[in-house]
Formats: sequence, C-alpha cells, structure tokens
Amino acid sequence: MNAIAAVEKYLDSAKESQLEDLKQWLRIPSVSADPARKADVAKAAQWVFDRLSQLGLQTELIPTKTHPLVLASTPPVPGKPVVLVYGHYDVQPPDPLDQWTTPAFEPDVRNGNIYARGATDDKGQALTHIQSVAAWIKSGQTLPLQIKFLIEGEEEVGSEALAEYLKEHAAKLACDVIVISDNSQYAKGEPAITYGLRGIAYFEVWAYGPKQDLHSGVFGGSVTNPAIALSRLIAALHDSNGKVQLPGFYDCVVPLKDSERARWAALNFDDSKMAKQLGVSALAGEAGYSTLERRWARPTCDVHGLMGGYQGEGGKTIIPACAGAKVSFRLVPNQDPATVAKQFQEFVANFKQPGVRFEVKDLHGGPGVVIDPDSPFMKAGERAVTSAFGKSPVLMREGGSIPIVADMVQRTQAAVLLLGWGLDDDNAHSPNEKFAVEDYYRGIRASAHLWQELSQIVK
Ligand code: BES
Ligand code: ZN
Repeated sequence: MNAIAAVEKYLDSAKESQLEDLKQWLRIPSVSADPARKADVAKAAQWVFDRLSQLGLQTELIPTKTHPLVLASTPPVPGKPVVLVYGHYDVQPPDPLDQWTTPAFEPDVRNGNIYARGATDDKGQALTHIQSVAAWIKSGQTLPLQIKFLIEGEEEVGSEALAEYLKEHAAKLACDVIVISDNSQYAKGEPAITYGLRGIAYFEVWAYGPKQDLHSGVFGGSVTNPAIALSRLIAALHDSNGKVQLPGFYDCVVPLKDSERARWAALNFDDSKMAKQLGVSALAGEAGYSTLERRWARPTCDVHGLMGGYQGEGGKTIIPACAGAKVSFRLVPNQDPATVAKQFQEFVANFKQPGVRFEVKDLHGGPGVVIDPDSPFMKAGERAVTSAFGKSPVLMREGGSIPIVADMVQRTQAAVLLLGWGLDDDNAHSPNEKFAVEDYYRGIRASAHLWQELSQIVK
C-alpha cells in the first residue's frame, strides 16, 4: 500500500475520535476580546499545545503580553518545501446568547453540522491540518515534508502579539508556503481556493458634548446632541452611490481586471438567494459593481456598534454627554491601513459640529492580500482539494480579513494557500455558528493529500 492509501485507511477509522477532539476544543470558551476569559484562552492554547506535542512534534507554548502562541514542527525533510500552517484558537464573543439554539460552548451535532462558537472560525478548520498530520504519523507513514504549525490566540482582535513575535523570530517561521484554512468554500458542494482577502482598518470614534448627561427638556434646543453629531458623521461617510467619502480613499485601489470580472460573472451568483438567506428584502452597496465584486474586491466602510445615551427599558429624556461608534474600513490590496487611518483622522478632524469634540481611537488593522493563482502551490492545492471533495475547486477571492497574513508573507517571503472548508452560511461571528461535519472530514482528507502534493514541488 502506498503512503496516501495507508493514511486514507487510517482516516476512515478515525472519524469518531476526530469529532470528539473538536468537541473538546470547542468546549473551551477562548474569547480573546473578553478579559474575563483570559484563563480560558490560555486553556485553549494549552489544549492545542498538548495535541501537537502528543503527536511527537517539537512544540512550544510561547507567552506574550496578551495571549500565548503555539508553535510546533515536524522534523526537517531536506530538499522539500517547508509548510507553515497558520490558524487561530481564539473565537469571537458568543453574544447575543439568547439566540443560540444550544449553548455556544456546548458543541451539538445536528443536521450534519457541529454547532458551537469557533466551529468553523477557526478551531474546526485549523484542526483539520492537525488531524491530517496525526493520520500520517499514526498510520506509520513518514511525512514527505516539514510542517510547522503556528496557532495564535488573538486573530479576532488584531494579532498584535503575533506581529511583535514576527519582528524578532521570523527565522523560526521560515517556510516556502503558508497554508491557512480560516475561510470558506464557494458554496455547499463547491469547494474553492481563495486567492485574495480584504484588509481592514478598525476604529472607535467618539463625540463628546456637555460634561454630563443633560435633561433634554431643560436643555434641548440649546446644545448639539453628541449622538446626533455622531450620526451626522456616520451618515457623511458614504454618498448616495455607496462611495466612501474619505478624501483619497480610492487612490490606491487597483481596478478589477476585465478577465476577473468576466470569471466572476460566469459564477452566476444568485443575488436573490443571498438576500433570502440573509433575511433582507434587497441587497445594496457601491453602485456599478456586482455583489461578488463588492464583497471580494471593493473597499467598504461599516459601523459595527453604537454606544451612548440611555440603553435601558422605557424612556429616559437626556442629551447624552457622549456617543461612540465602532467603525471599520475593509481594504483591498494596495490600500494601506496606516494611510486609511490618516484619512479617517483627517475626515473626522474636518467634520465640525458646534460644541462637540470628536476623537478617533485606532484599534487595529492589516492590509489585504492577493495571491498568484498560477503558482505551483496553488496547483498542488487544487489537486488535494479535488481528491477529497471529488470536484475541482472554484478560484475566488473573499471579503474577510486575516490581518497578519500580509505581515507573515513579507517576513517569510513565502507563498500563501488559502483553503477554506467553511461556508458563507456557517454563521461565523453570529449566533448558531456551525461547521458541516462532512466538510471537517473532507478538509482533513484534502490536507492529508496536500502534504503529498506539496512535497512534489521542486524547491
Ligand atoms: N475567519 C475570518 C476571516 C475570513 C472570513 C476570511 C471569511 C475569509 C472569509 C477571521 O477569523 C476573521 O473574522 N477576521 C476578522 C479580522 C478582524 C477582527 C481584524 C474579520 O475579517 O473581521
Ligand atoms: Zn473570525
């Protein structure tokens, strides 16, 4: 029996324990944004550290100012490419809790899916690569190339600790290709390889007015209400065609190629199906672009949260002392988050409302990426995906961001391979997050093939 056949045979016998592993990891509420969960975040790091070291990998648990990094490696294989698998063990907050059918940190398998926060983003997807390495090892096969794992604990809050680590230790992460599964397939039964991600620049903006909340009957009509001032600012961020209004915002945007537009048009994306899936009566966005273009290759601006004023039951008649918003810009390759930060600061500084002071807090950011779809790594990825999914992958870009990727590429000069096993309707960041159990298994299988395929690439 050749190596891959032996690995496949092992995979067929390991499904139950592979699912059990995922459940264990998902039970740990590793919410990186929540300081109260710091110990749980550390526990999730420890869990994956234990997994990798039990497999015999040389494994490190690296403390940082915030959440630990887990780094592991199989032995070097001279003359073969080195792979770095990147993933994250942190998850988004599970709120709103009352909208979950079963609790966010009590994984439940139903309708062929596993439901839990982190199921698809990213524990379930990251674990596929660990399971595939486990399968090679446990079936007695020698891995055909060196595989390193870098699993971080704050992707969902900007990857600052990893950025710091990279500055000093890029040599440790030296590799030829970075493999990431923290994204999606094109659709159910239509696997994909992603060759582009958007970047992001994330802020809070605050409007400060009177030194304390005021009675709106006594003072209404005499001062600017900060909540209204903030609303005006937010409204001014777009024009009626959906264009972002920061001066210079589009200057560096590379126009979409006609060939790319044609390929995406040929995907026959169904707008009305998407509207139905999202529960909206119409789609909207920047005029002149299709939905896929707007999601995958155009920059945008969104508001994620509004703070300020009375939020309790019933009415309370105040002019709030302040109001704030969480605002981000999705960026396309060639747009620089630091430049956009300057543009936003300037936009806010020039936005005058009498008696109101605006303040911008720069939270985090990272540039977008585009990958050469013709590289040998992409071709190896295509073959691996085809073997496991029985269908050749769609080439696509995606709108989400993995902010550290551009930094890792810059420091390692490696290629990137984005193999998403998730689905757009997996409810990532939302209630009832899920991952199709079948896609977990297929992801593991594709990953097992990937090591074989990548090892054929001549360095
Ligand atoms: N898994 C996502 C990124 C993603 C989602 C890529 C869908 C492609 C398709 C990742 O965990 C994520 O959510 N990233 C954040 C980054 C942000 C918090 C800086 C995002 O995109 O909002
Ligand atoms: Zn996420």
